[in-house]
Amino acid sequence: MTDQTMTLEIKNIPIKPAVSADAPIGVFDSGVGGISVLQHIHALLPYEQLLYVADSRYAPYGSKTPQEIQSRCFEIADFLITKGVKAIVVACNTATAAAIDLMREKYSLPIIGMEPAVKPAAAASKNGVIGVLATVGTLKSAQFAGLLESYGRNVKVVTQGCIGLVECIERGELRSDNTFKLLEQYCQPLLDEGADTIVLGCTHYPFVKPLIQQIVGDGVTLIDTGAAVAKHLQKRLAALDLLTQQYHHSGAVRFWTNSQAADAKQVVEALWGKSAEVEFL
Ligand code: DGL
Repeated sequence: MTDQTMTLEIKNIPIKPAVSADAPIGVFDSGVGGISVLQHIHALLPYEQLLYVADSRYAPYGSKTPQEIQSRCFEIADFLITKGVKAIVVACNTATAAAIDLMREKYSLPIIGMEPAVKPAAAASKNGVIGVLATVGTLKSAQFAGLLESYGRNVKVVTQGCIGLVECIERGELRSDNTFKLLEQYCQPLLDEGADTIVLGCTHYPFVKPLIQQIVGDGVTLIDTGAAVAKHLQKRLAALDLLTQQYHHSGAVRFWTNSQAADAKQVVEALWGKSAEVEFL
């Protein structure tokens, strides 16, 4: 035993695994929806390398049991860790609700999750009625109940599970009649209750924000959490001294998908907004 290790043991200083600030950040979702979060992360932290996993073969998570979602999250986190990530962003409200606590128990690296923006929506609403569009899994979760308990007490919260919507977006149908009809069906109950602010409580939904705005009208404010998650990630990495200092070129962004659709790469590129390096799992 060297003097140094002896000192560490005597002082009981926890020995942290050596993680480099230049290591990539892992981001994943049940599918392509989390790319809406990835865009905010890349815009805020352009020098960071980003690795994105779309678990599209297992989408939607919204209709799965918490146990099924947890096992998907562990498998993807293990994969990202083999790629050397310094932090993981769970860019999925449903997966966060089902698995974030267990992930934080299992892994020692920072795990950033997300939740529907009930708090900012309650603050933004002028008439005190907010709507939440989310997956059934998110709306049924204990985390969401806790969120309503904490921030939904002084407003009326109208929730709407959007079965089938994630699948439309996974197919890249951002403007199809089918997507429009589903959105009309899901937005109407919120409008009937007078919601003046609507939370996009699933990371797939920002990709159909123009359609939702068209349906609900300009008088209704739409809120999502991508920008807030990116800021939170920046803060966590800064606090741990884990922000890259490699400012000479922008960070590479790599994608993995297990989608079996023939046009999987095109869907990723359409949502990302440019050509992308996409590998198949
Ligand atoms: N993007 C996921 C979320 O934020 C969608 C979940 C699903 O696959 O149903 O909840």
